[in-house]
Order: sequence, then structure tokens, then C-alpha cells
Amino acid sequence: MRFTFAPAALSSGALLDLPWSLPLAQWADARIVLPRHAGLHRHVVRFLEDGPRVWAVKELPEELAVREYHVLQWLREVGAPCVPLHGVVLDRGEGVEAALITGYLEFSTTYRALFSEPRSIHPHESLLDALVQLLVRLHLVGVYWGDCSLSNTLFRLDAGNLAAYLVDAETAEIHPQLTSGQREADVMQARESLFGELLDLQAGGVVGESLDPLVLADHVVCRYHELWEELTGDWVFAIGEERKRIAQRVRRLNDLGFDIEELELLDAGPGKLRLRVTTKVSESGHHRGLLHRRTGLVAEENQARRLLNDLESYRAHLEQRAGHPVSDVVASSRWLERVFDPVVASIPPELADKLDPVEVFHEVLEHRWFLSEQAGADVGTSAASASYFATVLPHVSDLLTSGRSPTSA
Ligand SMILES: Nc1ncnc2c1ncn2[C@@H]1O[C@H](COP(=O)(O)OP(=O)(O)O)[C@@H](O)[C@H]1O
Ligand SMILES: [Mg+2]
Repeated sequence: MRFTFAPAALSSGALLDLPWSLPLAQWADARIVLPRHAGLHRHVVRFLEDGPRVWAVKELPEELAVREYHVLQWLREVGAPCVPLHGVVLDRGEGVEAALITGYLEFSTTYRALFSEPRSIHPHESLLDALVQLLVRLHLVGVYWGDCSLSNTLFRLDAGNLAAYLVDAETAEIHPQLTSGQREADVMQARESLFGELLDLQAGGVVGESLDPLVLADHVVCRYHELWEELTGDWVFAIGEERKRIAQRVRRLNDLGFDIEELELLDAGPGKLRLRVTTKVSESGHHRGLLHRRTGLVAEENQARRLLNDLESYRAHLEQRAGHPVSDVVASSRWLERVFDPVVASIPPELADKLDPVEVFHEVLEHRWFLSEQAGADVGTSAASASYFATVLPHVSDLLTSGRSPTSA
């Protein structure tokens, strides 16, 4: 038996106690829990709960397990969105395949659940956009996926939109840089899988006849090319415009959730300049990084944008009361203490597993806006959260997120 554990798993000796020499299908451990909803899969995958931790264990041939382990390790190193890696177990005994251990991705859901969930009326747009974002991020770090599909992706709510995480990397390859041919092959493979998956959903009656799988699959290809061009294409302009153009470019990339690693200005013929950018991919998400530095909160990109806006309006309120400017540090800590934390602390315990607390905060802000519009005056966050916990959160479908663990209510 050979165990290789990623640092995150080292603290747990419980992983060593599992009956590794038996095939996963024969495990009868009381800690095995059932997922509320899992994607389509080839291999045996089981979920195990050990105190606050939940692991997903997948059984697969050694070569694939090792490859997947390395890809996930690399993705984690560069901060690309994927399931947390815990370890790999090899040489489990005669006729028993290797096992890959990942951390259960909290509050994630599958595309099938999202398409079945009536609350999100048009899930396909944000779902497919999230998938495109993920594929582009992988390509920027030189990862060829080889099996990009909705089944191999998990989704988390992100301020009403979705953020996509890679869950299955057994076909992926790491390269110093991808050629356009490799990227194109990956996109075409994704198109084919998506088309099949959407047809399948239609055949199963999960989505209506009005949705055209071919149009959507082609839309993904277009969105991919548009985003890739936005992130990596050169801009050519007249000498003298450089300051304005650089500022525009930085803002545009930040709006898309990306940061710039390097900017280059090159000669582009008489009177012209070429602006070349290298997009930074470590630590996905411009606003995410900003929010984390200011508050220590971990959020998805759109959630972070939303929270930062709220923090800024709270700062304006503080400044107006104080009659002088308020620093980042003071504004952030007051906002956490007086606005964010009280909302999260007041989530009723029986509803705590419905949505990620950051998403709850975002929804409370939405609800506050809605109530304030109705009342013709600002109702305040406390009243809005009380009303939200009484009237909205209890009705959020369990399909929308899987909570902190697969079996939690
Ligand atoms: N770490 C995880 N967290 C949450 N769900 C997971 C995790 N790992 C696997 N799953 C679920 O199990 C399904 C199958 O996993 P996957 O790695 O795609 O296996 P296969 O190689 O058999 O396709 C996924 O679609 C996902 O729904
Ligand atoms: Mg899979």
C-alpha cells in the first residue's frame, strides 16, 4: 500500500484507517454518506464523513489516478478552481484499483440539479458562461482538459450567477503553454460533450424543447473565443493614447475578474503602438483577492464584487457621520463587525446548510433592496435579514446547493 497525501489531509489520521485493501464498492463504513446529487460518472465514487470533513473517494486505474493527482496539485498551486486535493492510494492489493481522495466541495451542485431547479429560470446562460470561464482559466495555466463537460464540473452559486470548479482531471495534461491547436481541440471536445449532455437533458424532460442544444453548444465555442481574445489579444493604437488605453485595458480585465501580470508596449509601425498583456491567473478573481486582503473573507468573484460595493457604501455612511475620510482598515473592520457578521450570525441553525453564508449575505442585500423599493424607504439590514430568513431561505431548494456535507439537511 502506498499513500501520498496533500498537506491539507495530513492532519487526518482517519484516512489511514479506511479499508483500503477492499474495493470501494465493498466498503461498509458507517461514515459513508450518499450525495444528494452527483454527476454522471464512469468510476465508483463514494463520500465519507469524518467529523467536519467530507471526502470523495474515486477508484480508478493507477495511471489515471496519478495523473489526476498531479493535475489537481498543479491547479491548486496556481489557484485555479478545482476540488480540493487530499491524496492518492496506490498498491491496494491484487485486483484493486488505485483511489483518489478529494475534499467534498461544499455548497456545490451539479448541472442536472441546476437545470431541474425552477428557481433559476435561465440556468443555462450563467452555467455555460461559468464553464467557459473555467476552461479559459485552465488554458491560461497551460492545462489541456481533454474531457471538459458539464458532468465533470461542479457549480457554486456566485451572487445569483454561477462559478464552475473542475472535478474530473483524469484526462488532463499540463504543458508550459498550450498551442492554439490544443486549445481548439479542447473547445471542440467540450462542444461535443455539451451537445450530448443537453440532448440528454432534453430527452429526460429536464429541459424544454425550446432550448436548442446545438445553438447552446456553439454559443459556448463563441464565448470561449471572445473571452480568450479579451484576455490575451493585443490592442494597437496611435502613439499618445497609451495612458488612456492602458487604463481601459486594466479596468476591462478587472471587470472580467482577472488581474494583469505584465504589460508590454511595443512598436507597431509608424505612429502606432501595440499593447500586449499577460493575464495573471494565480489566485482566481480580481475582486476575490481584494475582498480577501481587506476582510479575510473567502468568496466567489461576483460575491466579492457585491460585498466590496456594500463595504464601500458603508464606508461612505461612516465618512458622512464622521465628517472626515475613513481608512480601508477601519471601514473593513467596522463593516465586518456591524454589517456582515451580524447577518451571518443570525442565520437560523436549521437553515445553515441551505446556502453558503456569503451567498446568504448577497441574497439579504437583494431582499433589502426589494423591501426598500416596496416601502419607499431603506428598511435596513436587520429587518431585511429577519424577513429573508422567514420568507425566502426556507424555500431554497436543496437541489441548488449540496450544503456542507452530502447528507446534511
Ligand atoms: N470532491 C468532490 N466533491 C463533490 N462532488 C464530487 C467530488 N468528486 C466527485 N464528485 C461527484 O462525483 C461525480 C463523479 O466524479 P468524477 O471525478 O467525474 O468521476 P468519473 O471519472 O467516474 O467521471 C462528479 O460528477 C461529482 O458529481
Ligand atoms: Mg467524470
